[in-house]
Amino acid sequence: MKSRLSHPFVQALLILAVAYLLFRFGIAYIPPLLGVKSAPVPHTVLLQYMLTVAVGVLLYVSATEDRWRAFKAPIQRVLVDPSQRLYRLALLVTVPLLAGFITYRQVRPSVEAPPNLRSIHPAPPSTITFRGKTMTLAGLENPLRKEGNLRDHVEEGRRVYYQNCVACHGDQLNGKGHFAHGFNPPPADFTDNGTIPQLTESFVFWRIAKGGRGLPKEGTPWNSAMPAWEDFLTEREIWAVIIFLYDQTGWTPRTWDTAEGGAR
Ligand code: HEC
Repeated sequence: MKSRLSHPFVQALLILAVAYLLFRFGIAYIPPLLGVKSAPVPHTVLLQYMLTVAVGVLLYVSATEDRWRAFKAPIQRVLVDPSQRLYRLALLVTVPLLAGFITYRQVRPSVEAPPNLRSIHPAPPSTITFRGKTMTLAGLENPLRKEGNLRDHVEEGRRVYYQNCVACHGDQLNGKGHFAHGFNPPPADFTDNGTIPQLTESFVFWRIAKGGRGLPKEGTPWNSAMPAWEDFLTEREIWAVIIFLYDQTGWTPRTWDTAEGGAR
């Protein structure tokens, strides 16, 4: 047993196997036992880790001439030694079969339902009509930020929010209002960095004014319950509630300088 374990080829295989098990399962399951949060390593990252380990193993087995020779010996034997013909034949059949099988699994068409391709932040229209007034969204800033007192706007926005939005978007702005569980897609979670911090205030204005029914083609299947508020709120009230959303969550809106291409 000892002589087997001291063979560099066996050592290399062992290190690779242990590394794989550690990356594949260890990272996901050991930290939770110690009360630390963890998640499985994604496939592509796993591949990178394994490549790194493989490079290390190759460095190790080739560090001295003797070890390198010992490492290569079994490989060479299987490839050329007449007594190993059966192994050779078996490898010649299994390796291409394995490669074929993996390729087959990757290209096999599946019969699952197509994924729901609803775009969460579709490109907004360039102009909208708000109560008969045409508004150009590109470059549009929140006018309330330049007038009056910001605290007043926050308070006004708070009133608008608690009178109209809280039932869906929730007391903590996290999309968990009382009605939220009835909707799919769920109401937006404004505390999530994938929502309002990604957006310019003009985009948010558009979404609040036009709601789920105002979503363009990419917004299919248009099953958003987000109401169109243009019929119920004034332009000022919408700008105020936007100020409240950013103030309360601590996010800053995306600015037109950073919005690439000016698309949103
Ligand atoms: C009937 C439930 C409901 C109410 C009431 C409601 N919303 Fe929504 N809202 C939704 C749902 C569902 C979504 C997610 C689907 C979507 O993007 O249209 C959403 C999305 C949004 C978005 C888009 C966020 C993003 O990341 O794209 C904004 C902004 C928003 N709501 C603001 C408001 C404001 C402000 C109010 C109050 C004036 C309000 N909502 C009231 C259901 C609601």
